[in-house]
Amino acid sequence: MENLGVILLAAGLGKRMNSSLPKVLHLLGGRPLLWYPLRTAKSLRPQKIAVVIGPSADKVRRACNEDGIGWVIQEKQLGTGHAVRCTQQLFQDFSGDLLILSGDVPLISRETLLKLLRHHKEKDATLTLISAHLEQPFGYGRILRNGKKEIEGIVEERDATEPQKEIKEINAGIYAVAPRFLYAALEQLTNHNRQGEYYLPDIVRIAIRNSDSVQTVQAKDTREILGVNTRQELAVMEKSQQERINRQWMESGVTLKDPQTTYIGAEAQIGKDTVIGPNTHLLGRTVIGERCRIDGSAYLTDTRIGNGVHLKFSVVLTDCKIDDDAIVGPFAHLRPGASLGRAVHIGNFVELKEATVGEGTKANHLTYLGDVTIGRDTNIGAGTIICNYDGFKKYRTSIGDRVQVGSDSTLVAPVSLGDDVYVATATTVRHDVPAGALVYNERREAVRDGWTEQKRKKMKGKV
Ligand code: UD1
Ligand code: CA
Repeated sequence: MENLGVILLAAGLGKRMNSSLPKVLHLLGGRPLLWYPLRTAKSLRPQKIAVVIGPSADKVRRACNEDGIGWVIQEKQLGTGHAVRCTQQLFQDFSGDLLILSGDVPLISRETLLKLLRHHKEKDATLTLISAHLEQPFGYGRILRNGKKEIEGIVEERDATEPQKEIKEINAGIYAVAPRFLYAALEQLTNHNRQGEYYLPDIVRIAIRNSDSVQTVQAKDTREILGVNTRQELAVMEKSQQERINRQWMESGVTLKDPQTTYIGAEAQIGKDTVIGPNTHLLGRTVIGERCRIDGSAYLTDTRIGNGVHLKFSVVLTDCKIDDDAIVGPFAHLRPGASLGRAVHIGNFVELKEATVGEGTKANHLTYLGDVTIGRDTNIGAGTIICNYDGFKKYRTSIGDRVQVGSDSTLVAPVSLGDDVYVATATTVRHDVPAGALVYNERREAVRDGWTEQKRKKMKGKV
């Protein structure tokens, strides 16, 4: 949007969270709180976005890792008015409108922000803010109105008189404002209040004193404007977010056997007729195809899954890719860089990392496959371990098509097995094996008749 600047306030200490982590980095649906208003702000395509951050600036910047943002540091948390003042250099000569958002009000929608900006323009207002009526307004700034129902000011919970605390119309902490008025008004703020802070909402009184026009718009859905100040509020929001997302997926054709214990992130995608069992987390940019079965206790992050895949009970999949008709689990762990071709079977107690596995290949029991490329229709026997790390460096292994790796074998990387290789049971493979060969370790098997009885006699009375 031409001529729009956004200021996002995220420097507060979050004292009420009682946390060493900055409040805006606490997670909602697997993403930091700040990620939500930042995404919504970006969707408006403003000319500039400034995020005001505090003492843990680096942590916040890293967690959001977004380009095109002006980060502004507020050294001391002297209040929301002071935080906005820190952006003066960036915006004082800006000719458009400024939108001020709160980092701890994550669910505000693009539609409501557009409504705010439209209203602000239509009324040619100096300041427009979002208000809402809450049954339980505790903690929020209350909107004060005169006899003609015009806004007169905002009073914070802690400064409010008992009758003011009865007011149910609250300030959402989201404003559209003209920069010229804003920065002049901020200079006039005082911190003569119960918190000793420079309150941004006090610019309402200043505008009215100047006879500037102050407008309010109502949020369509009051859930949008809820702020997160405590861990209880965070838990309530997590639950209501979860219910909303789950309802949407069920409406679009996904079966959730136990929605109460199913957590689907804001960015996840799920295809039709997929059935999801209890205790499932689908986080980050996870994409699930159609007709998949997820039995339950699955924890997926940034994972892409094709159609008709069956994830058996209890799997942890992170940053990996699974093609159509594969079967994974129970109790499998796919770490970043695992990529399974069509109809691959990965069974119990199998761990993969940086492993590409070709179509139809199976590794069904007790196996570690790290830094490896495996061809198609290969069978990896029970207890196979790829020794990819010598304590200093990691090395790659390559295994061809139609290879048969016998149980209890260890492949010491770097090593390469050609197509149609046969690895005998319990072989340690240290050297490359050409296509079609058998590899085994020379080992004589010996049998001693009656050995057990003799041993027991010898040990009698000693143990
Ligand atoms: C604020 C409003 C209140 C409104 C509520 C809506 C003020 C004084 N009060 O109260 O009227 O009803 O939001 O959610 O503005 N921040 C900074 N620097 C600071 C202080 C805060 O960047 O020095 C940031 C915080 O990180 C947060 C936002 O500003 O994202 C709001 O601050 P917070 O302390 O949560 O204000 P509330 O008490 O919730
Ligand atoms: Ca707040």
